[in-house]
Amino acid sequence: MERYVLRGGQWGYDRLKLLARMKRDETLELFRRAGVRPGMRCVDLGCGGGEGTFDLAVAAGPGGSVTGVDMDAEKLALARESARERGSGNVEFRAGNVNEWDEPDTCDFVYCRFLLQHLARPADLLRRMWAAVRAGGVIAVEDADFDGLFCDPANGGFDFYKTMYPEVCRLGGGDPTIGRKLYRYFGQAGIPGAQFRLAQGLAVTEDAKAIAPLTLEASADAITGAGLASADQVAAALAGLRAFAATPGTLCGDPRTFQVWARREAG
Ligand SMILES: C[S@@+](CC[C@H](N)C(=O)[O-])C[C@H]1O[C@@H](n2cnc3c(N)ncnc32)[C@H](O)[C@@H]1O
Repeated sequence: MERYVLRGGQWGYDRLKLLARMKRDETLELFRRAGVRPGMRCVDLGCGGGEGTFDLAVAAGPGGSVTGVDMDAEKLALARESARERGSGNVEFRAGNVNEWDEPDTCDFVYCRFLLQHLARPADLLRRMWAAVRAGGVIAVEDADFDGLFCDPANGGFDFYKTMYPEVCRLGGGDPTIGRKLYRYFGQAGIPGAQFRLAQGLAVTEDAKAIAPLTLEASADAITGAGLASADQVAAALAGLRAFAATPGTLCGDPRTFQVWARREAG
């Protein structure tokens, strides 16, 4: 069984909020292409702070609904508070382990973002996600591929992040290059007619570049705990990466994001 390697709670919630802001346009494009529409009953697995869940709720409209599932109770409490503030009446957040989630034939849109890279048995979850899709419904996933990260100019802190995050993700039982495998996994899970899209983000603003140091910071305990580096080495890399992110004119590539979706034939 895997171990989630990123810091959660309020700190993790704040990081995910920034990440969601940076990824929102690409995700909305996925929802559009995959055909999310009013009235759909949707599920967002590994929903984190629920930013994607709220966008789904808007697309599903008052006649539809969305359930966000996550194992981090603290993030879910913040997501519920946010739902109250937004007046989102068609959203519910449920605590649970997605490895135990199994709700055949109950949903019109079954979705997860940046979850599968953390799972030891992603294809098992894909099978259960597909089983949950009712006739005419859709499965959609998006996930990253950490190969090919780049920055300009060269930066030692960025190199450290580029080596360490994938390594600690693997040691935790996950797969930092899962993005490129999703299309194949759909086939292996018996999901026909997969469609796909590849998004390569480029971080140029200070906000967008902050994701890299935040992800390194989020995995710092796991990196030192696994003996991959000392706390001093992590701190030095973080200082270098933060300075890089704050310097105008520098840029870095986000991990490529693969989006894959498929529709079940209408009954
Ligand atoms: C990288 S975050 C992505 C959150 C959200 N989908 C987004 O894109 O903003 C991964 C989320 O999956 C959750 N998670 C990881 N493993 C899980 C599991 N086995 N069961 C439920 N949630 C899990 C984590 O708590 C975290 O909130």
